[in-house]
Amino acid sequence: MATTGIRTLDWVDGAVELIDQTQLPHRHEILRIETVPEMVDAIQRLAVRGAPAIGVAGAFGVALAVRAYDTDGERLDEAVASLRAARPTAVNLARMVDRAAGVAGEGFARVLAEAMAIRDEELAASVSMGLYGADLVSELVPDAAIRAMTICNTGGLAAVERGTALAVVHTLHERGVLREALPLETRPLLQGARLTTWELDRMGAAHRLIVDSAGPFLLARGAADVVLTGADRIAANGDTANKIGTFSLALGARHAGVPFIVVAPESTVDSATASGDEIDIEDRGTAEVVSLAGATTAPEGTEALNPAFDVTPADLITAIVTDRRIIRLDRGQTLASVPLGDLRC
Ligand code: MRU
Repeated sequence: MATTGIRTLDWVDGAVELIDQTQLPHRHEILRIETVPEMVDAIQRLAVRGAPAIGVAGAFGVALAVRAYDTDGERLDEAVASLRAARPTAVNLARMVDRAAGVAGEGFARVLAEAMAIRDEELAASVSMGLYGADLVSELVPDAAIRAMTICNTGGLAAVERGTALAVVHTLHERGVLREALPLETRPLLQGARLTTWELDRMGAAHRLIVDSAGPFLLARGAADVVLTGADRIAANGDTANKIGTFSLALGARHAGVPFIVVAPESTVDSATASGDEIDIEDRGTAEVVSLAGATTAPEGTEALNPAFDVTPADLITAIVTDRRIIRLDRGQTLASVPLGDLRC
């Protein structure tokens, strides 16, 4: 299976090891996580982040919980609940915690095996999404020099390896049809500036970083042929929660007549949530907004609103690409009308 070689997180010698994403791009540090509170903390401060990656982290967290509290049902339940609630928006976290906790009664080894199966499924899904997505982009943009705009980090760092939207960019690059990627820097935590550029560098793909507010304008000026984004939760009607700024990009793409494609694994599709109105959007508080790189940027006492995600209505989305299917919303298809196909890898 072709991957980037960035293994974001894994089970190594009795603990979870993950790349500390708060330290990139300057330092490549590995965090070793041995307890549930350490895992909850890593998820909450975005040392590990991105919907598929926190799903896998949550499942490994359940293995840590079962190892620690096997005979103490109450403490196990509390530990599982704390993992489940560490971040609210990406459905992958609660879903994978529940899946791993569902076999807790069969013991630590069984839970660990389930977590590893989830890890392997997410890796396979990433490769598959890259192939499906690149085929679709080439169909929509029959050009050998594609310029792809993207937001946040949706690469290997947001998954196990390879990623979601950035897996498509990677595949286009490998096929020799990517002219350049245009990542948005992604305020306030700069996942695009710090992480996506780091990954694009590693894959040797041409790219230029843009500030978030330049995205819609550059689309209007014809600077990109396609917008590719990930997702944290896709509701049954196709409304999609993703990093704050995605909605503005979708509006800009519609205005410019540029395809807007959401790329996410089936594990991010939440048919139990009817529409985007029901999605719980994490607010990360004032501190992240009133400071930059450790320096304060607003007068003391300034309060901020800090939604970490927004919701793009389904009618602004050209297509949703998963690991098992392509849903052409622009052609009237829905999640309910398109059956699951095969994994491509
Ligand atoms: O707050 P983050 O960095 O976890 O937000 C991540 C995103 O919004 C990604 O676009 C999303 O999780 C899909 S990426 C695989």
